[in-house]
Amino acid sequence: MEFPFDINQLFSERVSVLDQTLVGGRKSAGRPDLQAHIATVIDELGRASAKAQHLPAPITSASKMQSQRHQLYLLKDGESNGGRGVVVGFLKVGYKKLFLLDLQGVHIEVEPLCVLDFYIAENLQRHGYGMELFDFMLQHKNLEPVLMAYDRPSPKFLSFLAKHYCLTQSVPQVNNFVVFEGFFFNRSAAQ
Ligand code: ACO
Repeated sequence: MEFPFDINQLFSERVSVLDQTLVGGRKSAGRPDLQAHIATVIDELGRASAKAQHLPAPITSASKMQSQRHQLYLLKDGESNGGRGVVVGFLKVGYKKLFLLDLQGVHIEVEPLCVLDFYIAENLQRHGYGMELFDFMLQHKNLEPVLMAYDRPSPKFLSFLAKHYCLTQSVPQVNNFVVFEGFFFNRSAAQ
């Protein structure tokens, strides 16, 4: 995804971790002009993700990021576009209080880290970038994918989780979240 400004000036690292402050690295702190560009990037990514998932409206935007305690991992390719860089995609996570049905069908209250939105630019999908981003997040959070919950995962994302992390056995829920069997096996060890 190309933009009419220098992506490398906004995001110093290959993967940037953004929070409510929308600061992309040392350079963009205290620079409202650069933060406006970061907001443009997030809005554009949110729109593209919603389109790819056939959602009626984006679930990710700069203003939503500013008002929610979520984290957004943004992957760039700094060498493309004549050295100005391109944005490859993003992964948004956050903690949510959920009522889930365990393996016995009993409601339990949990607050896991959830994958809320995930998008790799269309022309770059199936090149391993999604896994690079997801693995970065897992290391950063020091977490196993089976301990996470997935908000309305798309068919592509379910296929991704099965392929890379062997997550196939989901436990039926009455909400839009998907969790896999090991979520409950590993629960007491994780808490
Ligand atoms: N059709 C089916 N499976 C796909 C597709 C596709 N078009 N694209 C990726 N996958 C799955 C497959 O398992 C694929 O393995 P395969 O090529 O051997 O079949 C695997 O992902 C490839 O892994 P990566 O290359 O690491 O993944 P990628 O960079 O494509 O990122 C992602 C995966 C984020 C799901 C990407 O395909 C995408 O942006 N899709 C559109 C948006 C979307 O559906 N996002 C998930 C929303 S749900 C949520 O966020 C909770």
